[in-house]
Amino acid sequence: MARLFQMNMSFFLNGKSVSVTSKTGSETLLDYLRLDEKLCGTKEGCNEGDCGACTVIVTGRDGVPRPMNACILFLPQLQGCAVRTVEGLSGPDGTLHPVQEAMITHHGAQCGFCTPGFVTTMAAAHATGETDFDAALAGNLCRCTGYAPIIRAAQAAEKLPVPIWMDEPPKLQALQSRDDVFCPKSSDELAHWYARNPGATLIAGGTDVGLWVTKKMQSLGPVAFVSHAEDLRHIHDEKDILRIGAAVTITSLMQAIRPMSASLHQLFRRYGSPQVRNAATIGGNIANGSPIGDGSPALITMGARLVLRLADERRALDLEDFFIAYQKQDLRPGEFVESIELPKAQARLRCYKLSKRFDQDISAVCGCFKLEQANGVITKARIAFGGMAATPARAYKTEAALCGQPWSLETFNQAQAAMAEDFSPLSDMRASAGYRAQAAGNMLIRYFHDLQATPVNIQEVHP
Ligand SMILES: Cc1cc2nc3c(=O)[nH]c(=O)nc-3n(C[C@H](O)[C@H](O)[C@H](O)COP(=O)(O)OP(=O)(O)OC[C@H]3O[C@@H](n4cnc5c(N)ncnc54)[C@H](O)[C@@H]3O)c2cc1C
Ligand code: FES
Ligand code: FES
Repeated sequence: MARLFQMNMSFFLNGKSVSVTSKTGSETLLDYLRLDEKLCGTKEGCNEGDCGACTVIVTGRDGVPRPMNACILFLPQLQGCAVRTVEGLSGPDGTLHPVQEAMITHHGAQCGFCTPGFVTTMAAAHATGETDFDAALAGNLCRCTGYAPIIRAAQAAEKLPVPIWMDEPPKLQALQSRDDVFCPKSSDELAHWYARNPGATLIAGGTDVGLWVTKKMQSLGPVAFVSHAEDLRHIHDEKDILRIGAAVTITSLMQAIRPMSASLHQLFRRYGSPQVRNAATIGGNIANGSPIGDGSPALITMGARLVLRLADERRALDLEDFFIAYQKQDLRPGEFVESIELPKAQARLRCYKLSKRFDQDISAVCGCFKLEQANGVITKARIAFGGMAATPARAYKTEAALCGQPWSLETFNQAQAAMAEDFSPLSDMRASAGYRAQAAGNMLIRYFHDLQATPVNIQEVHP
């Protein structure tokens, strides 16, 4: 039976305050824009976060404008935000935004379906001074022109000032929660509500849950939008560890871990796209238990611990112990991921992602390695993989085969054999079992060469 309630909320849309009534909590921004506001410049391509045709600029509570995919953003996620669509990029007198002007001059505007998404992504990059346009446009697909004219347009607009009309008004008041669409202000509020509503769906970035609605046509029932809990969105530096709130986005996490590990930063650079990383949270990435997610193998290798919370009770466990079986995690009804404790000393960590495309693709295999050595002997080894088992998993036998052995290519070659005892990977559309097994073994050898400072990245290796 349909649930009967209404939730009134408001946010800024192209500089004007709008009031919206959400009936289910799971209406997408894209449907709202196209059906209710008749703002049809924002296109529906894939409806699953993959193509960027629906990109809008969302300025959140921190005042930073970011590109996001409207197709997998639920309306209640926009509370306190300002949304700008392609229709809101030009000035009140019709003056084009510098990136719009440059797209015309440099022949970057082509089929009209993808162009609005390109332009909004470029305008967000322009507003924040981002100049790595390969990275900025990784979530926008164009199959007709090639990207050269689009990149030239972005470069041409780069130094021009941000138009004054792009300034967003100050943030709006918090929206009123209802009991079945709950927007907690803190982890305390979330903990008590979720303990009372253990059957509810938690939504963080919605980059998984969004697809349950747009692709599987599921009705969600009671939902809580955990990213509204202020304390879940912070990273605390606690001497030897970072304490990372579960609702920290991958974008924010990337900034925090950059000084700790360039390799992990590079891995996250290939996590989805800027649009996906701006929504997706590390808590959601872990809690979904995906065997092919990128966050968990890296964090397991780094020695991360999870803090889980049920009402006022907290418990901590090693991340690898959280994954029990395929899609089965060690979570009791009403319990949620509150934070992640991440050791800071990660100089020897290396993370390798293998996927069919460089950008915006899920891993076929993701291998993460961290070995210590003293006097030429391997003293500690932590190795974890995604894509090799039903869960993200440690390679315990391989680790054992390495520990106590000399740091040499021969040791690493021999340890490859132990990997067959650790994993029996599956064949699927991303890779065959044999390919996965060989690729994982090759990653181990790659780690040896990498730590010898031999170039191992395809982008660095020159004949
Ligand atoms: C186009 C696209 C590309 C992607 N590319 C990648 C990629 O390259 N690498 C990768 O690893 N993933 C990728 N993903 C998957 C997805 O981004 C991640 O799994 C994401 O981190 C999920 O986080 P979220 O905050 O969006 O989770 P949500 O969708 O909000 O939630 C996911 C699950 O976790 C639960 N949950 C959320 N927060 C908590 C919490 N605090 N405690 C307990 N349960 C919680 C939810 O109830 C739900 O079951 C991609 C997704 C899309 C759509
Ligand atoms: S429609 Fe493709 S990313 Fe939203
Ligand atoms: S602009 Fe649409 S396919 Fe290139």
